[in-house]
Amino acid sequence: MSLSSDSGPSAEERPPAGVRPGHLGFIMDGNGRWAEQRQLPRTQGHAEGAEALRQMLRLARKHHIAEVTCFALSTENFEQRSEEELQFLFDLLAHHLEQEREEMERLQICFRAIGRLQELPRRLIDAIEKAQRETSGHKGLVFRLAVNYGGRAELADAFCSGGAGDPSLIGAQKETALAAHLYDPAMPDLDLLVRTGGEMRLSNFLLWHSSYAELYFTPVLWPDFSAVDFAAALEEYSRRSRRFGSVSTTTSGGDA
Ligand code: FPP
Repeated sequence: MSLSSDSGPSAEERPPAGVRPGHLGFIMDGNGRWAEQRQLPRTQGHAEGAEALRQMLRLARKHHIAEVTCFALSTENFEQRSEEELQFLFDLLAHHLEQEREEMERLQICFRAIGRLQELPRRLIDAIEKAQRETSGHKGLVFRLAVNYGGRAELADAFCSGGAGDPSLIGAQKETALAAHLYDPAMPDLDLLVRTGGEMRLSNFLLWHSSYAELYFTPVLWPDFSAVDFAAALEEYSRRSRRFGSVSTTTSGGDA
Protein backbone atom coordinates (compact mmCIF):
# COMPACT_ATOMS: atom_id res chain seq x y z
CA MET A 1 0.00 0.00 0.00
CA SER A 2 1.42 3.39 -0.92
CA LEU A 3 1.14 6.41 1.33
CA SER A 4 -0.95 8.21 -1.26
CA SER A 5 -3.71 5.65 -0.72
CA ASP A 6 -3.76 6.34 3.07
CA SER A 7 -6.62 8.56 4.16
CA GLY A 8 -5.65 11.86 5.74
CA PRO A 9 -6.30 12.74 9.38
CA SER A 10 -9.91 12.40 10.55
CA ALA A 11 -11.88 15.48 11.63
CA GLU A 12 -10.94 15.05 15.32
CA GLU A 13 -7.30 14.44 14.43
CA ARG A 14 -7.05 17.47 12.18
CA PRO A 15 -5.54 20.72 13.50
CA PRO A 16 -6.78 24.03 12.08
CA ALA A 17 -5.50 24.61 8.57
CA GLY A 18 -2.66 27.04 8.13
CA VAL A 19 0.18 26.88 10.54
CA ARG A 20 2.01 23.68 11.29
CA PRO A 21 5.53 23.15 12.58
CA GLY A 22 8.21 22.47 9.99
CA HIS A 23 10.45 20.74 12.54
CA LEU A 24 8.82 18.85 15.38
CA GLY A 25 10.75 17.43 18.34
CA PHE A 26 9.69 14.80 20.89
CA ILE A 27 10.97 13.94 24.33
CA MET A 28 9.35 10.52 24.57
CA ASP A 29 9.02 10.22 28.34
CA GLY A 30 6.99 7.81 30.43
CA ASN A 31 7.81 4.35 29.09
CA GLY A 32 8.97 3.14 32.50
CA ARG A 33 5.88 4.42 34.31
CA TRP A 34 3.60 2.97 31.65
CA ALA A 35 5.14 -0.45 32.33
CA GLU A 36 5.14 -0.06 36.12
CA GLN A 37 1.43 0.79 36.08
CA ARG A 38 0.86 -2.60 34.47
CA GLN A 39 3.36 -4.50 36.64
CA LEU A 40 5.44 -5.12 33.54
CA PRO A 41 9.23 -4.81 33.20
CA ARG A 42 10.45 -1.36 32.13
CA THR A 43 11.72 -2.89 28.92
CA GLN A 44 8.13 -3.71 27.92
CA GLY A 45 7.43 0.02 28.21
CA HIS A 46 10.25 0.72 25.74
CA ALA A 47 8.89 -1.87 23.31
CA GLU A 48 5.47 -0.16 23.47
CA GLY A 49 7.25 3.18 23.12
CA ALA A 50 8.86 2.00 19.91
CA GLU A 51 5.41 1.11 18.56
CA ALA A 52 4.11 4.58 19.56
CA LEU A 53 7.06 6.10 17.70
CA ARG A 54 6.19 4.09 14.59
CA GLN A 55 2.58 5.33 14.74
CA MET A 56 3.70 8.91 15.36
CA LEU A 57 5.85 8.89 12.21
CA ARG A 58 2.83 7.84 10.17
CA LEU A 59 0.89 10.73 11.68
CA ALA A 60 3.71 13.15 10.97
CA ARG A 61 3.56 12.14 7.30
CA LYS A 62 -0.21 12.45 7.23
CA HIS A 63 0.09 15.96 8.66
CA HIS A 64 2.84 16.88 6.18
CA ILE A 65 5.47 17.59 8.82
CA ALA A 66 8.87 17.98 7.12
CA GLU A 67 11.23 16.96 9.95
CA VAL A 68 10.86 15.08 13.23
CA THR A 69 13.59 14.63 15.84
CA CYS A 70 13.10 12.27 18.81
CA PHE A 71 15.11 11.80 21.99
CA ALA A 72 15.71 8.05 22.31
CA LEU A 73 18.63 8.01 24.75
CA SER A 74 20.48 10.82 26.51
CA THR A 75 24.17 10.84 27.42
CA GLU A 76 22.93 10.82 31.04
CA ASN A 77 20.73 7.73 30.40
CA PHE A 78 23.74 6.12 28.74
CA GLU A 79 25.82 6.67 31.87
CA GLN A 80 23.16 5.87 34.47
CA ARG A 81 20.70 3.23 33.23
CA SER A 82 21.31 -0.42 33.99
CA GLU A 83 23.35 -2.48 31.56
CA GLU A 84 20.29 -4.67 30.97
CA GLU A 85 18.02 -1.72 30.07
CA LEU A 86 20.65 -0.18 27.79
CA GLN A 87 21.27 -3.48 26.03
CA PHE A 88 17.52 -3.86 25.49
CA LEU A 89 17.27 -0.33 24.02
CA PHE A 90 20.25 -0.90 21.72
CA ASP A 91 18.83 -4.21 20.49
CA LEU A 92 15.36 -2.69 20.07
CA LEU A 93 16.71 0.16 18.01
CA ALA A 94 18.93 -2.04 15.84
CA HIS A 95 16.03 -4.46 15.35
CA HIS A 96 13.64 -1.70 14.28
CA LEU A 97 16.15 -0.15 11.92
CA GLU A 98 16.64 -3.54 10.28
CA GLN A 99 12.92 -4.43 10.25
CA GLU A 100 11.42 -1.13 9.15
CA ARG A 101 13.06 -0.76 5.74
CA GLU A 102 9.78 -1.28 3.91
CA GLU A 103 7.97 1.20 6.13
CA MET A 104 10.74 3.78 5.63
CA GLU A 105 10.50 3.27 1.90
CA ARG A 106 6.70 3.46 1.93
CA LEU A 107 6.67 6.65 4.01
CA GLN A 108 9.77 7.99 2.23
CA ILE A 109 11.53 8.55 5.56
CA CYS A 110 15.09 9.81 5.46
CA PHE A 111 16.68 8.51 8.68
CA ARG A 112 19.50 10.31 10.51
CA ALA A 113 21.02 9.73 13.96
CA ILE A 114 22.66 12.35 16.16
CA GLY A 115 24.70 11.99 19.34
CA ARG A 116 27.99 10.47 20.46
CA LEU A 117 27.32 7.57 18.13
CA GLN A 118 30.92 6.34 18.20
CA GLU A 119 30.38 5.16 21.81
CA LEU A 120 27.49 2.85 20.86
CA PRO A 121 27.90 -0.92 20.33
CA ARG A 122 29.29 -1.85 16.91
CA ARG A 123 26.14 -3.69 15.79
CA LEU A 124 24.03 -0.60 16.43
CA ILE A 125 26.50 1.71 14.67
CA ASP A 126 26.40 -0.59 11.65
CA ALA A 127 22.57 -0.64 11.66
CA ILE A 128 22.46 3.17 11.93
CA GLU A 129 24.97 3.68 9.11
CA LYS A 130 23.16 1.20 6.88
CA ALA A 131 19.76 2.83 7.51
CA GLN A 132 21.21 6.29 6.87
CA ARG A 133 22.78 5.12 3.62
CA GLU A 134 19.70 3.31 2.36
CA THR A 135 17.22 6.10 3.17
CA SER A 136 19.33 9.10 2.18
CA GLY A 137 17.37 9.63 -1.05
CA HIS A 138 13.93 9.55 0.58
CA LYS A 139 12.08 12.82 0.29
CA GLY A 140 8.98 12.43 2.49
CA LEU A 141 10.14 13.17 6.04
CA VAL A 142 13.49 13.63 7.72
CA PHE A 143 13.44 11.56 10.90
CA ARG A 144 16.30 12.07 13.33
CA LEU A 145 16.88 9.99 16.39
CA ALA A 146 19.04 11.35 19.19
CA VAL A 147 20.98 8.44 20.71
CA ASN A 148 23.59 8.92 23.43
CA TYR A 149 22.81 12.58 22.84
CA GLY A 150 23.19 15.58 25.15
CA GLY A 151 22.71 19.22 24.21
CA ARG A 152 25.72 20.36 26.23
CA ALA A 153 27.81 17.49 24.87
CA GLU A 154 26.85 18.54 21.32
CA LEU A 155 27.93 22.13 21.96
CA ALA A 156 31.16 21.00 23.67
CA ASP A 157 31.91 18.61 20.80
CA ALA A 158 31.22 21.34 18.23
CA PHE A 159 33.43 23.79 20.07
CA CYS A 160 36.30 21.31 20.45
CA SER A 161 36.12 20.15 16.83
CA GLY A 162 36.93 23.59 15.52
CA GLY A 163 33.57 25.33 15.90
CA ALA A 164 35.13 27.98 18.10
CA GLY A 165 36.18 29.46 14.79
CA ASP A 166 38.41 32.30 13.94
CA PRO A 167 38.58 34.97 16.68
CA SER A 168 38.25 37.63 13.98
CA LEU A 169 34.67 36.49 13.22
CA ILE A 170 32.07 39.01 14.22
CA GLY A 171 28.41 38.94 15.26
CA ALA A 172 26.28 36.20 13.71
CA GLN A 173 29.32 34.76 11.88
CA LYS A 174 30.35 33.21 15.21
CA GLU A 175 27.07 31.33 15.50
CA THR A 176 27.26 30.19 11.88
CA ALA A 177 30.79 28.86 12.49
CA LEU A 178 29.72 26.89 15.55
CA ALA A 179 26.52 25.58 13.90
CA ALA A 180 28.59 24.11 11.06
CA HIS A 181 30.19 21.73 13.62
CA LEU A 182 26.98 20.47 15.26
CA TYR A 183 26.13 16.76 14.79
CA ASP A 184 23.88 17.47 11.80
CA PRO A 185 24.62 20.93 10.39
CA ALA A 186 21.59 20.59 8.10
CA MET A 187 19.18 20.31 11.01
CA PRO A 188 16.91 23.36 11.25
CA ASP A 189 15.75 24.95 14.50
CA LEU A 190 12.85 23.24 16.22
CA ASP A 191 9.45 24.86 15.78
CA LEU A 192 7.60 22.76 18.33
CA LEU A 193 8.98 20.56 21.11
CA VAL A 194 6.54 18.08 22.66
CA ARG A 195 7.37 16.33 25.94
CA THR A 196 5.14 13.53 27.16
CA GLY A 197 5.07 12.05 30.66
CA GLY A 198 4.21 15.17 32.67
CA GLU A 199 7.67 16.60 33.37
CA MET A 200 8.20 20.20 32.26
CA ARG A 201 11.86 20.51 31.38
CA LEU A 202 14.19 20.16 28.40
CA SER A 203 16.52 17.56 29.99
CA ASN A 204 19.46 18.66 27.84
CA PHE A 205 17.68 18.01 24.51
CA LEU A 206 18.59 20.11 21.46
CA LEU A 207 19.68 23.15 23.47
CA TRP A 208 20.93 24.98 20.39
CA HIS A 209 17.96 24.19 18.15
CA SER A 210 15.22 24.86 20.70
CA SER A 211 16.15 28.49 21.37
CA TYR A 212 12.86 29.67 19.89
CA ALA A 213 10.88 26.44 19.95
CA GLU A 214 7.34 26.46 21.23
CA LEU A 215 7.12 24.05 24.16
CA TYR A 216 4.21 21.68 24.70
CA PHE A 217 3.93 19.42 27.73
CA THR A 218 1.39 16.65 28.17
CA PRO A 219 0.87 14.20 31.04
CA VAL A 220 0.17 11.41 28.54
CA LEU A 221 2.80 8.66 28.86
CA TRP A 222 4.66 8.11 25.60
CA PRO A 223 3.30 4.61 24.82
CA ASP A 224 -0.24 6.08 25.07
CA PHE A 225 0.48 9.06 22.79
CA SER A 226 -2.30 8.88 20.19
CA ALA A 227 -3.47 10.56 17.01
CA VAL A 228 -5.74 12.78 19.09
CA ASP A 229 -2.82 13.83 21.33
CA PHE A 230 -0.74 14.56 18.23
CA ALA A 231 -3.50 16.73 16.80
CA ALA A 232 -3.92 18.54 20.14
CA ALA A 233 -0.23 19.48 20.14
CA LEU A 234 -0.46 20.79 16.57
CA GLU A 235 -3.62 22.71 17.38
CA GLU A 236 -1.99 24.36 20.39
CA TYR A 237 1.01 25.26 18.20
CA SER A 238 -1.25 26.88 15.63
CA ARG A 239 -2.56 29.21 18.35
CA ARG A 240 0.87 30.36 19.51
CA SER A 241 2.20 33.76 18.53
CA ARG A 242 5.83 33.40 17.47
CA ARG A 243 7.83 36.59 17.60
CA PHE A 244 11.49 35.51 17.58
CA GLY A 245 12.41 38.53 19.64
CA SER A 246 10.35 41.02 17.62
CA VAL A 247 7.21 42.83 18.74
CA SER A 248 5.01 41.67 15.85
CA THR A 249 2.12 39.40 16.85
CA THR A 250 1.85 37.53 13.54
CA THR A 251 2.01 33.76 13.81
CA SER A 252 4.63 31.99 11.80
CA GLY A 253 5.85 28.44 11.50
CA GLY A 254 6.98 25.80 9.07
CA ASP A 255 4.51 26.85 6.46
CA ALA A 256 3.68 30.40 7.47
C1 FPP B 1 12.05 7.74 28.63
O1 FPP B 1 11.15 7.02 29.41
C2 FPP B 1 12.33 6.96 27.46
C3 FPP B 1 13.55 6.46 27.13
C4 FPP B 1 14.77 6.64 27.96
C5 FPP B 1 13.71 5.65 25.94
C6 FPP B 1 12.92 6.15 24.76
C7 FPP B 1 12.87 5.06 23.80
C8 FPP B 1 11.79 4.73 23.08
C9 FPP B 1 10.53 5.48 23.02
C10 FPP B 1 11.87 3.54 22.27
C11 FPP B 1 12.66 3.94 21.07
C12 FPP B 1 12.76 2.80 20.27
C13 FPP B 1 13.28 2.86 19.07
C14 FPP B 1 13.20 1.69 18.22
C15 FPP B 1 13.91 4.09 18.58
P1 FPP B 1 11.59 6.54 30.83
O2 FPP B 1 12.07 5.15 30.73
O3 FPP B 1 12.54 7.51 31.43
O4 FPP B 1 10.19 6.59 31.52
P2 FPP B 1 9.88 6.96 33.05
O5 FPP B 1 10.19 8.42 33.20
O6 FPP B 1 8.42 6.68 33.14
O7 FPP B 1 10.72 6.06 33.90
